[in-house]
Amino acid sequence: SLNELKGLEKGHLSLATTTTAKYFVPRLLGTFKRQHPAIELSLNITNQAQVLDRLAHNQDDLYFTGRPPKELDIELRPILPNPLVVVAPINHPLAREQKTISLKRLAQEPFIMRESGSGTRAIVEQFFADNRLEIKTVMEMSSNEAIKQGIVGGLGLSILSLHCLSLAVPGGPLTYLNVEGFPIQQQWYVIYPSGKQLSLAAQTFLDFLLDEGKAIVEGRLDHS
Ligand code: PGA
Repeated sequence: SLNELKGLEKGHLSLATTTTAKYFVPRLLGTFKRQHPAIELSLNITNQAQVLDRLAHNQDDLYFTGRPPKELDIELRPILPNPLVVVAPINHPLAREQKTISLKRLAQEPFIMRESGSGTRAIVEQFFADNRLEIKTVMEMSSNEAIKQGIVGGLGLSILSLHCLSLAVPGGPLTYLNVEGFPIQQQWYVIYPSGKQLSLAAQTFLDFLLDEGKAIVEGRLDHS
């Protein structure tokens, strides 16, 4: 029966995720691997543009992204909320602000931006454009971790997925600001080309993700 087969699925499962989704996808793999030890896993981490490029070339089984493409014919499953916040060093004057910080005030700050091709960057650019504000970009960096170090070093602020801070220890060097219009509420999706016949391993992972993914990730986020 199907139940007897559960846990014995074999095969290889190749996943691709954006650099923000990398903060939750690997957390799920421990539980999944215990349930399905015979499935071999690989995970490719890159930015939004490259994840979509991998999808267009059918390089992986499933893809995680915060910005599903409109121009591609894809299947799309919402997985988790992805709030974006303004990250600042704990000693920044705006971090002590009691009142909600206005967008005009925020726009006076220098910003560290992700590289072009990043979904985060696209969201941030759109947000500033919608609010008719210019971004004062101090520098571009192609890594959320590098940006966090730049923030700690006083180079500027940045708008990042809240999940980038999920393992931050209380009393650590980073915080996020209380700014008008924030968090920017986004959503992560798992996507794959429509009409693609998923392998048993991929279908098993997708079912696992939809059944247990949210609880696993949110359970851990509460404790971080
Ligand atoms: P990225 O990820 O900035 O690494 O492209 C963002 C997203 O998936 O929305």
